[in-house]
Amino acid sequence: MYSLKCIKCGKEYDKRSVIYNCDCGGLLEVKIDFSSIDIDKDDYENIPLSVWKYKEFLPVEREPISIKEGGTPLYDCKRFSKLIGLKEPFYVKHEGLNPTGSFKDRGMTVGVTKAIELGMKIVACASTGNTSASLSVYGAKAGIPVVVLLPGGKVALGKVAQALIHGAKVIEIKGNFDDALEIVMKLCNEEGIYLLNSVNPYRLEGQKTIGYEIADELNWTAPDRIILPVGNAGNISAIYKGFKELKSIGWIDRIPKMTGIQAEGSAPIVKAFKDHKEDIMPEKNPETIATAIRIGNPINAIKALQAIYESKGLAEMVTDEEIVEAQKELAKLEGIGIEPASASSIAGLKKLLKNGLIDKDERVVCITTGNLLKDPEEVVNVCNKPIVVETKLDKVKKVLNLIKQYNVTQILQIY
Ligand code: F0G
Repeated sequence: MYSLKCIKCGKEYDKRSVIYNCDCGGLLEVKIDFSSIDIDKDDYENIPLSVWKYKEFLPVEREPISIKEGGTPLYDCKRFSKLIGLKEPFYVKHEGLNPTGSFKDRGMTVGVTKAIELGMKIVACASTGNTSASLSVYGAKAGIPVVVLLPGGKVALGKVAQALIHGAKVIEIKGNFDDALEIVMKLCNEEGIYLLNSVNPYRLEGQKTIGYEIADELNWTAPDRIILPVGNAGNISAIYKGFKELKSIGWIDRIPKMTGIQAEGSAPIVKAFKDHKEDIMPEKNPETIATAIRIGNPINAIKALQAIYESKGLAEMVTDEEIVEAQKELAKLEGIGIEPASASSIAGLKKLLKNGLIDKDERVVCITTGNLLKDPEEVVNVCNKPIVVETKLDKVKKVLNLIKQYNVTQILQIY
C-alpha cells in the first residue's frame, strides 16, 4: 500500500494521480506502508542484486519494463585509498555499468513501468543527456513514444547517440537544462504527457535501490558516508530515502552521512548549505566540464538539502581541474572509467579529506554515476594524444624503448 505525499504540507494524493507537485507547490514523495510488507532480509540472501530484487518496496503493480538494471559492482578501491590516505576500505559503487551506462536506468525501469500502468501514451523529459538516453531505451522496450528536450551543444556525444538510435524524438533548445525542464514540465501538464524527470516521485523510487544494494552488499550495514555528484538533486534524495526506509524497518541501524558534490561553476546547493539555508538561490548561467550536472536550478533542492542536514552530511564544490584529475586517477589506479560528473564525487572526497572535514577512519562509498564512454570528446581533450609513427617495426620498437625510459608526456615532447 502506498500513496503520494507532499513533503511540505503533508497532503496525500491517490497513488494513481498524475501529478508532480502538491497544490501548495511542495515536492511529492511516495509514502509506503511498511506494515503491509511481509519479507525479511534473510529472504533476500540468495537472490542476485538488481533493482527488482526489492520489488516488495517498489510502488508498481504490473510486470516491470526491465532490461536488467542495477546489480552494479561495489569495488573495494585499495590503490586509490592508499593514494588519498583512507584507513578503512573505500568503495566505489559503479553505476556507469547499468545497461545504458548510468544510474538513470534504475529510475526509468520503475518510471516507465508506472507510465504503462497508468495508461499514459507518451513519455518525456528534459535532460543533460543520461536521462534522455535511459528514457529512450526504456521507451523503446515498452513501445511508447519518447520526447526529449536537450540543451543544444551541451550534451555529451555518447548520450545524444543513444537517444537518437533508440528512436526518441530529440528536440534541442537554444537554452540550458533549466530552460528545457521548465518547458517540458509545461508541455507535459498541457498535453497529458507523462513526465519522467526526477520531479516524478515514482522515478526516484527506482533510484532508492542504490541505497538498498549498498546496505545489502555490506551485509545489511550502512557505510559512514555516501558521496555523490548532485545536479537536479534527485539521486541524493532518493538514496537517502532508501537508507531511511531500511532504518525504519530495522534492517540497518544508522543512516550514512549524505554528501553532495557540485562543480564550482554550478553549485547552488553547496552555496545554500554553506549559508545554512533550506533552499537555493538559482544560478542563471551554470558552467562546468561536467555537463551532466550543469544545472543552476535543481528541482529537488529542498529534498536534497533535507537529506544532507538530517544525515549530518556535507556539500562541497570542486573545480573542473580537480574533476579531471580525479577522473584520470580512478581510471589509472582502479580501472574504473567514469564521466566527468561522476568524477566530482571522487574529487569531492579528496578535497574534504584534505581539509579535515572527512575523517581518515570513515568508511566511504562514492557513487560513480555515469560511464566514461558517455563523453569520449572530453576524454580525448584531457588526455595525451596517441603517438604517431611510420608503419615499421623498428619505429614502433623505438617508441617501446622510450616507453621503458620515460612517461607518455615526456615521449610526446620528444616526438
Ligand atoms: N551524474 C550523472 C552522470 C548524471 O547524468 C546526473 C544527472 C547526475 C550525476 C546528477 O544526478 O540530477 O539526480 O542530482 N543527470 C540528469 C540528466 C540531470 O538529465 O541526465 P541528479
